[in-house]
Amino acid sequence: MATYDLIVIGTGPGGYVCAIRAAQLGMKVAVVEKNPTLGGTCLNVGCMPSKALLHASEMFEEAGHSFAKMGIGVSAPKLDLPAMMNFKQQGIDGNVKGVEYLMKKNKIDVISGTGRILGAGRVEVTVADGKTQTVETKNIVIATGSDVAKLKGLEIDEKRIVSSTGALSLDKVPGKLLIVGAGVIGLELGSAWRRLGAQVTVVEFLDRILPGMDGEIAKQFQRLLEKQGFAFKLGTKVTGVDTSGKTLMAQVEPAAGGAAETIEADVVLVAIGRTPYTDGLGLKEAGVALDERGRVEIDAHFATSVKGICAIGDVVKGPMLAHKAEDEGVACAEILAGQAGHVNYDVIPSVIYTTPEVSSVGKTEEELKQAGIAYAVGKFPFTANGRSKVNQTTDGFVKILADAKTDRVLGVHIIGREAGELIHEACVLMEFGGSAEDLARTCHAHPTRSEAIKEAALAVGKRAIHM
Ligand code: FAD
Ligand code: NAI
Repeated sequence: MATYDLIVIGTGPGGYVCAIRAAQLGMKVAVVEKNPTLGGTCLNVGCMPSKALLHASEMFEEAGHSFAKMGIGVSAPKLDLPAMMNFKQQGIDGNVKGVEYLMKKNKIDVISGTGRILGAGRVEVTVADGKTQTVETKNIVIATGSDVAKLKGLEIDEKRIVSSTGALSLDKVPGKLLIVGAGVIGLELGSAWRRLGAQVTVVEFLDRILPGMDGEIAKQFQRLLEKQGFAFKLGTKVTGVDTSGKTLMAQVEPAAGGAAETIEADVVLVAIGRTPYTDGLGLKEAGVALDERGRVEIDAHFATSVKGICAIGDVVKGPMLAHKAEDEGVACAEILAGQAGHVNYDVIPSVIYTTPEVSSVGKTEEELKQAGIAYAVGKFPFTANGRSKVNQTTDGFVKILADAKTDRVLGVHIIGREAGELIHEACVLMEFGGSAEDLARTCHAHPTRSEAIKEAALAVGKRAIHM
């Protein structure tokens, strides 16, 4: 008889949440983790450390720039980077300990080491000294996440040419930070280091920032970032970096071809996306199929090509987001327990934790146009929102896209302070198939930024009150 009902390989937000849900449903569960700490990319080198640095650097900038106008006199803030890194580490440690506690509480065995699938029902775990053990199980869930996408010609040393991991642990503020890729990582970590004093230049291959985000929102976001001091070189690629001198010399040229130029930098951050991580898992030998992009292929029930082996999170298709991985973990465990687990991929929010924040759920205007769906737009700027006005934080707007015939909300996009919190009322509405009229007729507390959402919903019917 198998020792376990379920072995989950990887303890990121996909894996540990899947393990907990399975244990709640009565399964005997173990997790296998090769890192010394639990929590995966998100807790150790992703979501959580980046948010700690974003928060601390935002406070640093606020203290230097915004306090005086509110009548708060403080002397110029001084940066103690080691202390800020310590603040970040305390946050990581607290969350990692939280996952360890949850494993104990749910009686989940933690097996430390690198997992390799020997076939359905059998996982071999290799520990640091090379010793192996084989564990038997009814089901296996692959939750091994993703890794940094590499760029040819740029050797990441995590000191001067860094991935997000190195950029979260620099030991001094780079004078000049060159970022390759105007995606989420580039703009979040670029924001953190700019606030601490770095001069930031972002080189992006495409002719816009944040591909996939609603175009109108991305344009305004770019303008606001430029006002903060970001320099963008769009439609441009980095072809190599000369590391021989004291400072780095990056060669860049137009993506469409043309004259090359050199950009000097102290640190280069490579942030051009992430790739599914399946190294050493033994998938080929076990017969688990991958798709053309190296992701583990799954069906609608997270089942791979081998019976008894499922996969979730960054290692499968879909947005590489922690909450998507978590929801898949829950649904997968429920399906394994014979229930009807389900993820609604039409309602997965995404948030960029910059100042201002950017958030989005559902379809963009470009996607609706491309799909030939007739839609109505309602927009409301934070300059017309009372709370934003009194706090003098009026950058941004709310944009609601509703079906022109049925009024059903198809997409909501927000740029502005706290946009990452505001988006969730749109998520709940869309989960219930609600209309712009439903939102417009829902009483919103005054004075809140959320009133801008109600006003944008009213604007879909051309009857916003404060505009
Ligand atoms: P992961 O979190 O990558 O975990 C996989 C785990 O599997 C790792 O611990 C790994 O060590 C382990 N593993 C791999 N192979 C083996 C093996 N053979 N044996 C044993 N263990 C193995 N997402 C958000 O939603 N919000 C954010 O704000 C956000 N910020 C981010 C910031 C940065 C800088 C980065 C890099 C990512 C960020 N993400 C964010 C993305 C988020 O981190 C991922 O979507 C999420 O971690 C995916 O979860 P996962 O469980 O699929 O995999
Ligand atoms: P990304 O996919 O968000 O952005 C990569 C950018 O690099 C794109 O704009 C792309 O066009 C550009 N690019 C690709 N190749 C290039 C090249 N050779 N030269 C110049 N530009 C190039 O990827 P990123 O920022 O690395 O983040 C990885 C993933 O991590 C994201 O997909 C996201 O899901 C997740 N993440 C989520 C966060 C959040 O939810 N707040 C925060 C950070 C990461």
